Amino acid sequence: MLRIIGRIVYETLLLMKKSLEPGMTTLELDVIGQKNLEKYQANSAPKVTYDFPGYTCISVNEEAAHGIPSSRQILAGDVVNIDVSAELDGYFGDTGGTFLVPPVDPRMAYLCQSTRKALRRAMSVAKHGAKINLIGKAIEQTARKSGFVTLRDLSSHGVGRSLHEEPHSIPNYFDRHDQRSLKEGQVITIEPFLSTGAQETQTESDGWTLTTGKGNFSAQYEHTMVITKGKPLIMTAL
Ligand code: CO
Ligand code: CO
Repeated sequence: MLRIIGRIVYETLLLMKKSLEPGMTTLELDVIGQKNLEKYQANSAPKVTYDFPGYTCISVNEEAAHGIPSSRQILAGDVVNIDVSAELDGYFGDTGGTFLVPPVDPRMAYLCQSTRKALRRAMSVAKHGAKINLIGKAIEQTARKSGFVTLRDLSSHGVGRSLHEEPHSIPNYFDRHDQRSLKEGQVITIEPFLSTGAQETQTESDGWTLTTGKGNFSAQYEHTMVITKGKPLIMTAL
């Protein structure tokens, strides 16, 4: 069941990435995601869980996460994060990615590349018996080596029978006081957020959009996975 919903959200993310074009609005992009979820009778998770005013979260440039689909036009050179999470028959999948609208700024490409590396490194330490804080350690180290920082108030999380469940708040930094360990069969997301300077977000007056401040950029990539004694099994794949 997790593989089924994982494939649906990942396919939806790739379809939205492919459809991304300057001139379109984030609402138009959201409708593409909505239609794909509806094709499989999957329900938007942020909508059913939090009554989020959109089917997917689309966050542009200074927006880090939870951007509301709107009449905002996507422009050449924009940094666009798309996060797709959905439910089918009681099971939840959650995925996300950051995509660059040409012309691509090499520094933004490096930010995205470093964030993908942080996700890979974090996944390589996420196994049965390992401390949960190794995930944040891997993310923080990768960010630092690349000359970036992480958003400390956003985190990875348990997922599966609801959008957010135990283990809650797996941070994007090393918390040496965190005593929790990963267990075989646990379903979690890993979703590093790397940032060019800001380490925290603010909530905009719409009550949803998390921004990092003018001139700041961030990137996020997210997979839903099952913890095993070896490599995690990625559910958000085709
Ligand atoms: Co997500
Ligand atoms: Co998530």
